[in-house]
Amino acid sequence: MKTLILNEKEKNSTEICANIIRNGGLCAFPTETVYGLGANGLCAEAVKKIFTAKGRPQDNPLILHVASFSQAQELWRDVPCTAKQLADVFWGGALTIICKKSTVVPDVVCAGLDTVAVRMPENECARRLIQLAGVPIAAPSANLSGKPSPTKAEHVIADMEGRVDAILCGEDCKYGIESTVISLAGTPTILRPGAVTPEMISAVIGEVCISESVLSPLKDGETAASPGMKYKHYAPDAKVIAASGTQFEIAQKLCRLYDEYSKSSRCVILASTENSAIYGERAHFVIGSRNNPYTLCAGLFAALRKFNDFDIILCETTDTQNAGLAYMNRLLRASGFCVV
Ligand code: TXA
Ligand code: MG
Repeated sequence: MKTLILNEKEKNSTEICANIIRNGGLCAFPTETVYGLGANGLCAEAVKKIFTAKGRPQDNPLILHVASFSQAQELWRDVPCTAKQLADVFWGGALTIICKKSTVVPDVVCAGLDTVAVRMPENECARRLIQLAGVPIAAPSANLSGKPSPTKAEHVIADMEGRVDAILCGEDCKYGIESTVISLAGTPTILRPGAVTPEMISAVIGEVCISESVLSPLKDGETAASPGMKYKHYAPDAKVIAASGTQFEIAQKLCRLYDEYSKSSRCVILASTENSAIYGERAHFVIGSRNNPYTLCAGLFAALRKFNDFDIILCETTDTQNAGLAYMNRLLRASGFCVV
């Protein structure tokens, strides 16, 4: 398939992409979290193409992207008042809300569940695309299944050229990790942490549960509240190893691991600004600051892709307060829970 590569700044590029989506095609587009791979969310045939293009398991449901809360209401039923409270504060933005689905949503979007995930992005280009398409846009992250989510247009081109009708290129994604996913279908529960933190959500709707799968692997025979959590995720080809402890212990452990592994393999340390000097001459790449976990989130996926062809990528863990929870969720999955 020939893929049209357009820049959001070019005249009519968003209109062309909206047309493609309206006509049942696939188009990747920027959001503030990660790039999405969009199709008409109300058309089962169009949505099926997403699973093929990504190589995504059919039992992993998609998020529908909308341009207003009233558009979301048409996709849900039995909507609790907490949905409106959260949307009022966090939409457009990095929060995906799950409620019971209405009959307009095709089963293939929800992988047969009776709930549907909906999000209104903050990114202007994404919002315009949804408005012009005139339908909710079903969109997972625009990476090949299992790979780190794309945070730059070049990542999308690398994974999706030849597999989709168009790629709408925009700026690098502000947050660099996927949205927070909260289920309101029962007790409010965070299924995937993101830039909208549990602390921020609790301040609006009171106490919120955090799914066990956020920081631990699924046990044998356990069913995932969020099917996405059971798959190998965010993983580069390189082996990822994370070090735990205090800030200084982490740096010491990574130096030791590096000195040992680099004798026989290609290694790199994904460093914090704070620890960077300690790594000295060892190959390291600064992804962000331990004092601001948002910066670690924003740098992680791009760095995993950058060093994909290395043998070993050594990473720093952080505490799980605020956006640190989202960083640790992605890091633990990228490393297959390999923490020393
Ligand atoms: O930031 C984002 O959310 C990006 C951008 C493109 O918007 N999208 C994204 O989609 O990350 P995806 O498909 O990569 O992740 C969707 C996650 C998966 O873990 C999936 O299992 C979960 O949301 N999910 C979707 N619908 C669900 C449902 N009805 N119940 C439980 N989990 C659901
Ligand atoms: Mg994804």
